[in-house]
Amino acid sequence: MKIIMLGAPGAGKGTQAIKISEKYGLPHISTGDIFRANIKGGTELGKKAKEYIDKGALVPDELTCDLVVDRIHQDDCANGFVLDGFPRTIPQAEALERALSKENESIDFALDIEVPDEAIIKRMSGRRVCPKCGASYHVESVPPKKEGICDKCGAELIIRADDEPETVKNRLSVYHEQTQPLIDFYKKTGVFHEVDGTKPLDDVFADVVSILGEHS
Ligand code: AP5
Repeated sequence: MKIIMLGAPGAGKGTQAIKISEKYGLPHISTGDIFRANIKGGTELGKKAKEYIDKGALVPDELTCDLVVDRIHQDDCANGFVLDGFPRTIPQAEALERALSKENESIDFALDIEVPDEAIIKRMSGRRVCPKCGASYHVESVPPKKEGICDKCGAELIIRADDEPETVKNRLSVYHEQTQPLIDFYKKTGVFHEVDGTKPLDDVFADVVSILGEHS
């Protein structure tokens, strides 16, 4: 199963992608996580990506497409993958399509997690992330067992730098301008499914499973 997650920043793509990855045994590939790991590691890619991410802008396609195309050709992607945060522009979607069609393959599911902007802003202000293992929480809807501490690895949780309210507003406007057109792009391919992302996260996941099927 080759799955892509669409939806605004903070819609819950990462949360659902991890659950899909666990249930169906597929690698979870998050371009945001890849960039953040590179920033943390001080790589050249990380230095370049940081300039854009800190402003809430998109990292240029030329830094992003080859990275993802290489990643989906690794052995662990033989049975599929969940792409979270890619594609985000029409040229990225076209690059993905070209790479897959060379192998006579295509995307099976494009899941669009829909949440209105007002709810997004509220969600982002309550998000806390683990700088060590990447787990994501929300102070109200998905709290850790012990306040401020990651359930999975015990590290102290932080607020993501690009979750500042001004940056979130910019990320949302970039989303509407550059990423939302992908909805029409994927509607034309017949693999598009909209999911109501305002429900509690287990209900959102139940809807996702009803689209993907119970098989593993
Ligand atoms: P990325 O890390 O991909 O950020 P994003 O798309 O903005 O998405 P988020 O990770 O912020 O949110 P999410 O939808 O995964 O929501 P989450 O599950 O965490 O990208 C960061 C940056 O990297 C971009 O801005 C860009 O600069 C760059 N970048 C990345 N990919 C790129 C690309 N392809 N091209 C160019 N640039 C790229 O949930 C959010 C919060 O809500 C959490 O607190 C969670 O616990 C909570 N929550 C989740 N579901 C629910 C629910 N159902 N009910 C209540 N709360 C919920």
